[in-house]
Amino acid sequence: MDSVAKSSFPRWTPHLAVKGNCSLSGFLKVSGAKNSALVLMAASILSEEEIRLKNIPFLTDIDVMINILKTLGIQTKRNKSYLLINPKEVHPNPLPSELVHSLRASFFCIGPLLARFGKAEVPLPGGCQIGNRPIDEHIKGLRKLGAIVEIKDNVVYASLANNQERLKAANIILDCPSVGATETILMATVLSKGVSKIKNAAQEPEIQDLANMLNQMGAKIKGAGSSEINIEGVELLHGCTHTVIPDRIEAGTLLIAAAITRSSLIVGPIIQDHLFAVLKKLDACGCTLLSNGDLIKIIPGEINSVDITTNPFPGFPSDLQAPFMALMATAKGVSKITENIFENRMQHVEELKKMGASIRLNGSIAEIKGVPELQGHYLEGKDLRSSAAIVLASLAAKGESKISGLHHLDRGYEELEEKLNGVGAFIVRNQKQIVAKDVSANLLNCDNLTINQEVA
Ligand code: UD1
Repeated sequence: MDSVAKSSFPRWTPHLAVKGNCSLSGFLKVSGAKNSALVLMAASILSEEEIRLKNIPFLTDIDVMINILKTLGIQTKRNKSYLLINPKEVHPNPLPSELVHSLRASFFCIGPLLARFGKAEVPLPGGCQIGNRPIDEHIKGLRKLGAIVEIKDNVVYASLANNQERLKAANIILDCPSVGATETILMATVLSKGVSKIKNAAQEPEIQDLANMLNQMGAKIKGAGSSEINIEGVELLHGCTHTVIPDRIEAGTLLIAAAITRSSLIVGPIIQDHLFAVLKKLDACGCTLLSNGDLIKIIPGEINSVDITTNPFPGFPSDLQAPFMALMATAKGVSKITENIFENRMQHVEELKKMGASIRLNGSIAEIKGVPELQGHYLEGKDLRSSAAIVLASLAAKGESKISGLHHLDRGYEELEEKLNGVGAFIVRNQKQIVAKDVSANLLNCDNLTINQEVA
């Protein structure tokens, strides 16, 4: 490999060595959605019977969630095809702060525990690097449903009033369409007495996935995926088998990997409606997108700059802002990227600048002037999506990059380097290269791809 820039980290630091100037071709398989899987696992607390979840990705965040469920007395069994969750012995034990701190999504357990047992003790999830991330909307919603919620010494204690057996129905209007708050309130209301409404609800596909699973379990939810969700409370929920939706953020990242390396790739499965805003921007910046339904073939042309502004679904997802900025760093012209969701989600900017990107950052607005070539460098992933962005930039750069901070990447991308190596990348983790075995095997249904009228 070519040599990297001089600054470095100690040799024993876990890192990826990424060879630049790479050209990719073949098929990349999209895993199950992390953000869906995590909330579905928490929702299993609501069930009296076993839940079988298919398409759960192998990720460190999922491992942490499994451990959290175990502390509640829930048994789990995992193999390649499914995760079996047996909540028959579930008990509302206090959740250990070290686990909750390492995974914000563990806070999701508060809604189901309160709904099923009338009490929950969950440490505050703590701040994450991408911003302040308050939980006021979750708490306000639970209080509206009749819960008594107190925060003492960084622990949230939630319970029902003495004379109350279950949460009561309510009309809840969220101040902002928070994904997490919508999920918490949805899970809390399914076993409540009466009919509830969540207004200004988040409309993300993960909310629809949650509602679909809860309905399979016997819940009565209507309107998930729109800004108003109606929930008729039921007495109890039973088991089910549910397949997690494909990860739209991973899919977007892989499509951007194709665009940034100017390589043609087939990526799937993708539910196109889940990625519409991103496909539109890829089309607008010069990529041809062909599809036969749930597979998309991307053929990048000359990449021109486009502006993006992140917004709640169906807007451009905040989670793909960093990878898209890496792409814009290599585009022709100047683009403006505005981060609207989180106040500190620009940690990739400094790393991209180390690689020679020309970026002017003013608060949450970045102005990116594309450069003809990025340079390999020593880089550090500082949060999940910024880590993905610098992996993509490294694939396209001249020379080799070395990337530390892998614990962020491993939280949310299943076998990223294995998958990329399977289509022609050369990425080595701690001196070892692993290539996924089955990445190019699944080329079924890739014939007869047609121009996607929706996108092109
Ligand atoms: C989820 C996703 C995350 C994604 C984000 C936005 C999971 C596990 N994570 O995070 O990957 O980037 O949606 O699509 O699903 N807010 C409040 N008060 C609250 C809750 C949120 O002010 O009580 C604010 C946040 O600070 C943020 C905005 O609302 O500015 C959106 O946050 P939210 O939608 O709740 O994101 P998460 O559920 O944390």
